[in-house]
Amino acid sequence: MRLSLRFIVPLAIVLGLIAYGVVPLVDSLTFKWFNRDLEIRSKLITNAVHDSIVEALKNPTQTNLQKLFNRIIQDERLYALAYCDIQNKLIYKTLTLPPNIPCEPINQTRTPMSRISEDPRGQVHLTFYPIIDDDDKLLGQLILVHDIAFIQRRSEDTKKYLVSLFLGLAAIISLTTVIVAQLSWLGLVKGLRSILKGEGLIRPSSRHATPELRPFIKDLRTLVRDLETERRVKDENQISWSPKALKEILQGELTGDEILIVSNREPYIHVRNNDQIEVRFPASGLVTALEPIMRACSGTWIAHGSGSADKDVVDKFDHVQVPPDNPSYQLRRVWLTKEEEDGYYYGFANEGLWPLCHIAHVRPIFKSKDWQQYINVNKKFAEAVVEEAKTENPVLLIQDFHFALLPKMIREKLPKATVITFWHIPFPNPEVFSVCPWREELLEGLLGSSIIGFHTRFHCNNFIDTIDRFIESRIDRETSTICHNGHLTAINRYPISIEYPVKWLAQQKSVRECHKIIRSMNNLPPDRLIGIGVDRLDYTKGILERFLAVERLLELDPQWVGKFTFIQIAAPSRSSIDQYQHFEADVKSLCSKINKKYGNENYQPILLKIEHHEPHQVYEYFRGSNLCFVSSLHDGMNLVAKEFVAARDDEQGVLILSQFTGAARELAEAIIVNPYNIDECAAALKLALEMKPEDQRNRIRSMRGLIQEFNVYRWAGKMLIDAARLRQRTRLFGEPSADHKGFF
Ligand code: G6P
Repeated sequence: MRLSLRFIVPLAIVLGLIAYGVVPLVDSLTFKWFNRDLEIRSKLITNAVHDSIVEALKNPTQTNLQKLFNRIIQDERLYALAYCDIQNKLIYKTLTLPPNIPCEPINQTRTPMSRISEDPRGQVHLTFYPIIDDDDKLLGQLILVHDIAFIQRRSEDTKKYLVSLFLGLAAIISLTTVIVAQLSWLGLVKGLRSILKGEGLIRPSSRHATPELRPFIKDLRTLVRDLETERRVKDENQISWSPKALKEILQGELTGDEILIVSNREPYIHVRNNDQIEVRFPASGLVTALEPIMRACSGTWIAHGSGSADKDVVDKFDHVQVPPDNPSYQLRRVWLTKEEEDGYYYGFANEGLWPLCHIAHVRPIFKSKDWQQYINVNKKFAEAVVEEAKTENPVLLIQDFHFALLPKMIREKLPKATVITFWHIPFPNPEVFSVCPWREELLEGLLGSSIIGFHTRFHCNNFIDTIDRFIESRIDRETSTICHNGHLTAINRYPISIEYPVKWLAQQKSVRECHKIIRSMNNLPPDRLIGIGVDRLDYTKGILERFLAVERLLELDPQWVGKFTFIQIAAPSRSSIDQYQHFEADVKSLCSKINKKYGNENYQPILLKIEHHEPHQVYEYFRGSNLCFVSSLHDGMNLVAKEFVAARDDEQGVLILSQFTGAARELAEAIIVNPYNIDECAAALKLALEMKPEDQRNRIRSMRGLIQEFNVYRWAGKMLIDAARLRQRTRLFGEPSADHKGFF
């Protein structure tokens, strides 16, 4: 607070001075000076040509006077000349004389007069000079017309220099104030040391500024950055993050700029069920996170139209307003052919990049025909973005590994757009990434972004190391920025989250009722302890390891046989890919093996439900279970963990969480496990089943507090605030480049 006052007060005073004092004063002084100058010039010219005019009037041939006039107006500022006789009749004029300048009655005092007149080209300065012969006889008057546009230009230049000078002074005064305060606060020696190191002092130069302005630009940039940093930290902590707060950021920081989102998966899928069209919510962490953001921002979401009835509900522009029950934003559907979907989605994205980035011991498959489709589909989405953009500089949020090439394509088509790319899955180290035959193209594509976001610092570092290995660029690790081909990209950490409070909770029954409902739905006795797992049927989720842990628990501690049931909800996913089909077969077979080993006709240790569940059904399971087991082998964040915690407003229930999820870095009160260590996981299950209610409450309460504070509005808000800062800086200093240290 004190720091910002030290900056803001001098700055505000100077800005006030500039706006209300300096600028009007500069205008009027400049005008007076140049007006006076023109009068002197006019007098000089008239004196110089007076005798020649009198002479020419004695021998009145047009050519004499015309020649004389044409010679005189060679002067660069003298725009036109005219001569009127004593009866105010126009006798001679140059062709340049504006039509609206009449002869005026001659001043009887024989003194020259001057005034400003409006001309279609702008303002002109007129001087009326009496012409008197040797016998002191008044012959007529000479009109000199001067172009005064240069006065305005000079006045603008002077204003610019003065504003820069004053802002520079303000920056220096502010900085001096802060440094003096810092010295007295931290002690002279410490302060001197930090000054000698250059901390907090002005840094690099600007490429674009003229040499005279460079010092001021440097000071200004430092000042703006310091103000922003301090303000951002405060903003984030002080804002209560909600849809309203996000809207305010959009209106305030981004002044209502256009927001476009691109993702492969759409938030609402229309499917045909017999004669009915139903709306489905896909099982996707990405969609879970972004949907509330779009409801708050009211922009356009561009995604692949993948539902069987999607085409039936769009308008002629392929738009559909969503959410269906209360439309607040528009969904633009992009149609893909079967070849495109096979090559781009199933092939390159999910058989190649997905296993590559997850290091889940499934070999990535890279085929050149899939790569070609990946390029084609990225192009198709780039065209859709250009079609949807109403302005030349929208804020574009590109989602995930399906669109690594899109940022560069957009930069070429809409160079003024602010492109934020968020990579929702892990980013591997350079050795792993080098496996991809088109690694350079993917990395260069991503570097078209203004900002690239990852969930964890670890993934940011992996990305930067990979760029360092394969792409010629300048990397500044201190500020986490990469300069490639003169374009700067910031690499930032934005841990994603869920909406809080969760909209699906509003319609939920009490925990007690959910407890009863899920037991009766699954023919389980009321006292059965239930563990829940909710995932897409994907080999990265550690479902096999989870089942092995249940088996090991029953083996090591047989008292749980018949008392504990694990329910696995597995949403079918990417099922035309071989690896997913094999995985489904493996999951089913392990489940039946364990059920055979420890089950009987009345008891199944594992209930496997391979079917789509709507969010409200999933929340019912979360609320009615005793524990939730998230055992991903590698996961960018994993929002199921956060959803389970958010669902438990009774502050009961235990979360077991893989150490290889981004969520484990935030939800430290969960029981953190290594999913490859089956014994450890079995012990975690036992610990969870036996945990005292008080202990459960303490853990869940603390995690709920964290999710409440770091909800998805904060995730999006941070990105949008950074985008706004970037746009503000671009407006002030031009496109950021490598010498713009401290991008944010
Ligand atoms: C992950 C990806 C998302 C994807 C989701 C569901 O969370 O990061 O981009 O939408 O899985 O997968 P699907 O292929 O069905 O969209």
